[in-house]
Amino acid sequence: MGWVDAIRDHGSLLFIHLRDIRGIVQVVFNPVFSPQSYGRASALREEYVVLVRGEVRERAKGTENPNITTGDIEVMAEELQILSKSKPLPFQISEKAIVFGENIKANPEKVDEELRLKFRYLDLRRPSMQELFIKRAEILKCIRDFLTDSNFLEIETPFLTRSTPEGARDYLVPSRIHRGKFYSLPQSPQLFKQLLMMSGMDRYFQIVRCFRDEDLRPNRQPEFTQLDLEASFIDEEFIYEVVEELISRVFALGGIRLSRPFPRMSYAEAMDRYGTDRPDLRYGMAFEDVTGILENTHYQVFRKNVARGGKIKGFCIKGKASVLSKNVLQNEYALKIAPSLGARGMTWMKVLNGKLQSNIVQFFTVPELERLKEQFGAQDGDVLILVADVSNDQVNKSLSGLREHFAKRLSLVPEERYRPLWVTQFPLFELKDGALTSQHHPFTMPDRVDFDPADRDELLALKSRAYDLVINGEELGGGSIRIHDMEVQKKIFTALGLSQEQVEDKFGFFLTALEYGAPPHGGLALGLDRVIAMILKASSIREVIAFPKTRSAFCPLTRAPATVEREQLEELGLLGPLRGLPGKEKRIEKKEVSEKLPEPSAPVPRGVSSSHVRHIARLARLKLSDMEVAEYQKDLNAILDYVETLRELDTENIRPMSHVLRASNVWREDRQEKSTKSEAILSNAPLRQDNYFKVPKIIED
Ligand code: AMO
Repeated sequence: MGWVDAIRDHGSLLFIHLRDIRGIVQVVFNPVFSPQSYGRASALREEYVVLVRGEVRERAKGTENPNITTGDIEVMAEELQILSKSKPLPFQISEKAIVFGENIKANPEKVDEELRLKFRYLDLRRPSMQELFIKRAEILKCIRDFLTDSNFLEIETPFLTRSTPEGARDYLVPSRIHRGKFYSLPQSPQLFKQLLMMSGMDRYFQIVRCFRDEDLRPNRQPEFTQLDLEASFIDEEFIYEVVEELISRVFALGGIRLSRPFPRMSYAEAMDRYGTDRPDLRYGMAFEDVTGILENTHYQVFRKNVARGGKIKGFCIKGKASVLSKNVLQNEYALKIAPSLGARGMTWMKVLNGKLQSNIVQFFTVPELERLKEQFGAQDGDVLILVADVSNDQVNKSLSGLREHFAKRLSLVPEERYRPLWVTQFPLFELKDGALTSQHHPFTMPDRVDFDPADRDELLALKSRAYDLVINGEELGGGSIRIHDMEVQKKIFTALGLSQEQVEDKFGFFLTALEYGAPPHGGLALGLDRVIAMILKASSIREVIAFPKTRSAFCPLTRAPATVEREQLEELGLLGPLRGLPGKEKRIEKKEVSEKLPEPSAPVPRGVSSSHVRHIARLARLKLSDMEVAEYQKDLNAILDYVETLRELDTENIRPMSHVLRASNVWREDRQEKSTKSEAILSNAPLRQDNYFKVPKIIED
């Protein structure tokens, strides 16, 4: 039994490829052999589900099909039953040509992703997709086997819970019984796994769904799967050991060998040398700080930045001077790409005949140029890229973007190379909009605990005992050694500016638990979708998630999120004034609430209505027939639908465009002479002023 993958009608014989998740076999319908099944077979269409009974035999010499693993045999059909029919398909599912040597025409990469997700059950029938999920299951089994053998217990933690601070927004679930109160879906099982350590569970793991309402990027999903683990009486080395072994085993399932131990790099070094806390080590071009060399240079841009406490840094692109023309370096990189990455400018120099050359090389002294060459180890054919800014962070950020851009453009990223890295010694805190926040989460152990929670400078200088696992520039996991002392945990909350009341309300249960004998513990979580996508070389994590959401957190299959019945909202107490909101007794007026939650029974205006079109037509002094109104309405709605799809665009690192030049109309010189005789045209004008048509003003300021 299976699906009809493909059909080939030879007139006297009819062949099909019969497919299930384990593979494909050819079935032959022969009118002489079985007139009845041959007769029925003519009704077959792609993706019908059928039952075939028949004899398996070797294929005749020369008719084998190496496209399929069973290409040497076929089934001579004696019986055919159609178990269910299929409508014509929205896209092709078959991936194996029924005739050897023939190419399959379908290219799933070209099928619109939203369509694939809408018909995900069809998309998942494709053997290449099924292969991904077979492998995913293998990887999960390997993880379970390894951790279970290493004495880790698999324990589930709740989904309906309180907020866990991981830096994103929570998905909230209203409670019917406790009106006005909400559960949060966990951003991670962080607090529960720590509570499990306090419960004496010693070594825990869970393959668990996490929920984060955050701006989606290519490798983020609103719900995703973590391999979450935690252990007691351990230090960083234990985590490195376990995770390196585990990661090496699962990468080996994809035929990827990782060399161990994984190297380690401090956060400070990663930022200094690569401008990012997740450096891609598959290629070089680490940064050099040349501030010292150029602090007194005649080149004003550099000197001014240094005088204001800034930095000059850069990297060297080996042997690419001949492919990077002046035009590309100046007009593309210096004028467009570098500014789009936030840089005020970018300077380039090429090494030609032992000398540095560029459009600004005359501003530098010979010793300065020599020292630059020396610091970068630059040789003939190399290109230096330099950026200066008063903000060191901005220098790092721009250079990091440029490094990645050049690497991609010049194909410097070896596809088959995998470079794992532990990034360590993160700052414990960072400033976000002037406020102190935990860089990881507030349960991370600082490198020392004798700090003053009121001393901001001291707090910002603290390092954490956190670590991230990065492979090929992607953060696959992160974790830390945790605070197991209530006093230290309290100090961290104080440092974060949380009042005693807030701490009690949010984390009281957790602090209480810390009072009853908490073991030293630590752990980590791997983003499993990312790990699996990398091992299977999938283009996105959506490829390895059975039913993913789009980049706008929408499910095209179920059309979630969706509006709900008014009664449901009423039942949950979401229509009237909300009771039991934190803190103040203030009644929230209906108006405030309805701003957040449009009442579902009121017709929500969707798209452009005919009255919208008539209104715009009136403003534009256009008289439209009913048919025209309908046409405009259709077109405008098509535009809105299109705009809706644009929400999926990732504009994270793209600066808004603006015109720096004043825009004005000009007469094109080359056109003036050849232009059609204006008199002939103007002779048509109902009203004329000099050489122009005069038209009535219709829109006034
Ligand atoms: P963190 O927030 O770093 O740590 O998450 C761990 C890993 O989960 C993956 N990840 C995601 N994958 C897909 N979509 C997302 N939206 C998404 N967000 C995160 C990343 C990341 O490295 N509780 C801590 C772990 C710990 O301290 O033990 C935590 O959740 O690969």
